[in-house]
Amino acid sequence: MDRKTILEKHKRFLFPSAINYYAEPVAFARGAGARLTDTEGREYLDFFAGILTVSVGHCHPRVVERVAEQLGTLQHTSTLYPNEWIVALAEKMASISTGRLSQSFFSASGTEADETAILLAHTHAGGAGDIVALRHCYAGRSLLAINVGAHAPWRIIPSMIPGIKHAHAPYCYRCALGLTYPACGLQCAHDIEELIATETCGRIAGFIAEPILGVGGFIVPPKEYFATAVEIVRRHGGIFICDEVQTGFGRTGGKMNGIEQWGVEPDVATYAKGIANGLPLGATIATPAVAASLEGLSISTFGGNPVCAVAALATIEVIESEGLVARSAVLGEQLARGLEQLAAEYPWVGETRGMGLMQALELVADPQTKEPSPERAKALMEEAREEGLLIGKGGLYGNVLRIAPPMAIGEAEVAEALEKLGRAMSRIE
Ligand SMILES: Cc1ncc(COP(=O)(O)O)c(C=O)c1O
Repeated sequence: MDRKTILEKHKRFLFPSAINYYAEPVAFARGAGARLTDTEGREYLDFFAGILTVSVGHCHPRVVERVAEQLGTLQHTSTLYPNEWIVALAEKMASISTGRLSQSFFSASGTEADETAILLAHTHAGGAGDIVALRHCYAGRSLLAINVGAHAPWRIIPSMIPGIKHAHAPYCYRCALGLTYPACGLQCAHDIEELIATETCGRIAGFIAEPILGVGGFIVPPKEYFATAVEIVRRHGGIFICDEVQTGFGRTGGKMNGIEQWGVEPDVATYAKGIANGLPLGATIATPAVAASLEGLSISTFGGNPVCAVAALATIEVIESEGLVARSAVLGEQLARGLEQLAAEYPWVGETRGMGLMQALELVADPQTKEPSPERAKALMEEAREEGLLIGKGGLYGNVLRIAPPMAIGEAEVAEALEKLGRAMSRIE
């Protein structure tokens, strides 16, 4: 189908709310590795990986081969019947997850994985206690997930679900308390104590947080943040739900799970995106003690179907056999240094930040006032696209550029992306 027909049909038959990144939408026809080709034959270097999802690259031969084989063997039975692939994946998840996490529930998206985790927190708490989430977080697009999320543009309607309290995000560049790390003494984490004392009955069911806030603009917390926050949460009866939807599977470099960067063990973790290289899969993994509290949630029609389970097993196999967790740290370093060099030339880059292959540029109108500049972010996205480079956008104000390529790439591709981005930046006022 040609581009014009795709765009016409898209406009006519899809919800108008479907987001389009570019003024002139681009329609892709195929992909391989870190490259995508559009319907007109133009090639792009994909440094957003389908929103941090294509972990091992587009159409990785190992994943394609295993999925195709599985499609011809057994595609779907529902979770009513155990099968060898779902148990193999659950066993693998137990071996690569943090600490005592060992029992999984599979669904079809990150939203469902987070919903399941929150339900679990409530059943574990016996129905008594609120959920604490972070400002600037994102948890998906169901009604519950929208209410957990803390970005006005994604909330769409006024709060509909009570019992969710939002703590300050560990967002040092824009500290809501007007403090500076480390002199701040991590006030944002300590404030959870007061939040619980003043906004809840004094006991909570759980705390959900991303190791690095993804949609929030790759906000990296100070290293002691999680230890401090989780200690307060547990003291008030809550469990810690770690949302690894963006940070899991080596994305943050050097560690399989993002939370390992912060030395804290969750009671529940959620995964999606990068888990199956683009096939729809969500996973909620818990300690046996916490998992035991959730009786009666036995079905997810599509959850962990054999094809998606095999895609995840193949993706994890590639991540392990190609040493991508370590690669993500090495290439992330190259990317971060390159971005810092580029940023040094432009005062409108307020901050570069990130870990591993999860790097961001926060753009401002003025480095002194830090006034966000979504206009520049938009313009730079367009210029990068002109260069044949795809990057992502995020942040509460839409002024953060998110750069997160597939992990199975090389130094040459990182250098090429930096060159393209450099040329694009030189054209921004
Ligand atoms: C941290 C986080 N949690 C949950 C979700 C929801 O995942 P999905 O879009 O697969 O429902 C997202 C999606 O961007 C996410 O970034």
